[in-house]
Amino acid sequence: MMLKKTNYMMLKKTNYQKSEALLARASQVLAGGVASEFRKYNHPHAIFYTHGEGTRVYDVDGNAYLDFTLSQGPLIVGHSHPHVLAEVEAYSRQGQLYAGQHIKEIELAEKLNQLIPSAELMRFCLDGSEAVQTAFRVARSKTGKNKFLRFEGHYHGWLDNVAWGISTPSVEALGDEENPKVFPWSAGLSSNSREDFITLSWNDLDLVERVVAERHNELAAIITEPVMCNNGCIVPNEGFLQGLRTVCDRYGIALIFDEVITGFRLGLGGAQRYYNILPDLSIFAKAIASGYPISAIVGKREWMEEIVSARVIHAGTMNTSTPTVAAALATIDVLERDPDTYDRMFRLGRRLMDGLRTAAQTAGQNLFVQGTGPMFNTSFTALPDIRNYRDTLQTDKAKLKQFIAGLHDRGIRVIGRGLWYISAVHTEDDIEQAIKVAAEVLKEID
Ligand SMILES: Cc1ncc(COP(=O)(O)O)c(C=O)c1O
Repeated sequence: MMLKKTNYMMLKKTNYQKSEALLARASQVLAGGVASEFRKYNHPHAIFYTHGEGTRVYDVDGNAYLDFTLSQGPLIVGHSHPHVLAEVEAYSRQGQLYAGQHIKEIELAEKLNQLIPSAELMRFCLDGSEAVQTAFRVARSKTGKNKFLRFEGHYHGWLDNVAWGISTPSVEALGDEENPKVFPWSAGLSSNSREDFITLSWNDLDLVERVVAERHNELAAIITEPVMCNNGCIVPNEGFLQGLRTVCDRYGIALIFDEVITGFRLGLGGAQRYYNILPDLSIFAKAIASGYPISAIVGKREWMEEIVSARVIHAGTMNTSTPTVAAALATIDVLERDPDTYDRMFRLGRRLMDGLRTAAQTAGQNLFVQGTGPMFNTSFTALPDIRNYRDTLQTDKAKLKQFIAGLHDRGIRVIGRGLWYISAVHTEDDIEQAIKVAAEVLKEID
């Protein structure tokens, strides 16, 4: 039974008993009780949900949440969008998977080709992690070189050669910026995976230029999140992305934009249209299909020729199943229908960012809010600015945990590391509600 919107938002939610019991049951048969490591870190433990609708998601204990996680990004048109569901149902009723091609996947590729500046050719996969690895394979094949350069704190999926550089005991442990220490995120990584990459601090073009000048003979690619969304929500310094483009051109290195978050969030053309920089290869996933498993590796023809010629093999039994393709096309329909969609997402996001800053000032809290609007991050810090991973390591994680837990207990769901996403269906009322609740929480935390 759903509580009425006006009532439930005012209630403090402290009851997670049914989720707790289900977690105990799940742990008997699901390793750790969950299907993805990050789900363990919900507040106060993994939560079990019953349904979602628009900007609301509901759990088994009857708690309702105004959702700013959007399922870690994918739900850009909200939960259970009727147009998406109708298209998925209609198209998958005709058949689900053919071990062959179908017409709508051409339509989807044609659409992405119009929307994304560098998407001359593409291939579809199931998720971001897979598409990232496909991009590395293409870059290695074309350049004949092996390593990629990546940046501290950027997340490119959970597979071996990228499961490094995202967890660190302390900022001191990272050492010298030119030759930083890198820590594995997981046990069991192939020892060879450490040979695949070099790591540098982000947003420092001089550093990149110096290191690449020395090591370009080893480098097939530079991969970057165009906005660093996995630690903070840090926009690139003026000229940084253009500088990467120039360095890559100078030495014949692939520039890979990992647009798994920025894709469809900064606009339908991703960060590459927003910042007007053309990468050679890029990855789109998450928001392109409202929670259905499809991703795309897109790129300039001269790079994607590696796949056309079958020098690079890319495959997958489950690729372009009909529900995923229908979901992507329907998501684009919804986002394109109203020409104000993106302006509104930016407007609402910025209103929320401003409201949180004002509430923090009133409460005397050192909350730092940064981002673009459709996605932004909240952290607690005395630093005047946060420009890279090393800065994020110095924020007050214990206070952030209290803030996120306090919001959650009052029906506002935000990603645990402080990231907020705005969807095309959030309303001004949603934003004002979130500000009001955040103001209460900020007054209460230590
Ligand atoms: C920037 C970025 N790249 C890659 C990935 C991996 O994508 P997936 O979880 O779909 O494998 C993520 C996931 O959060 C991401 O944020």
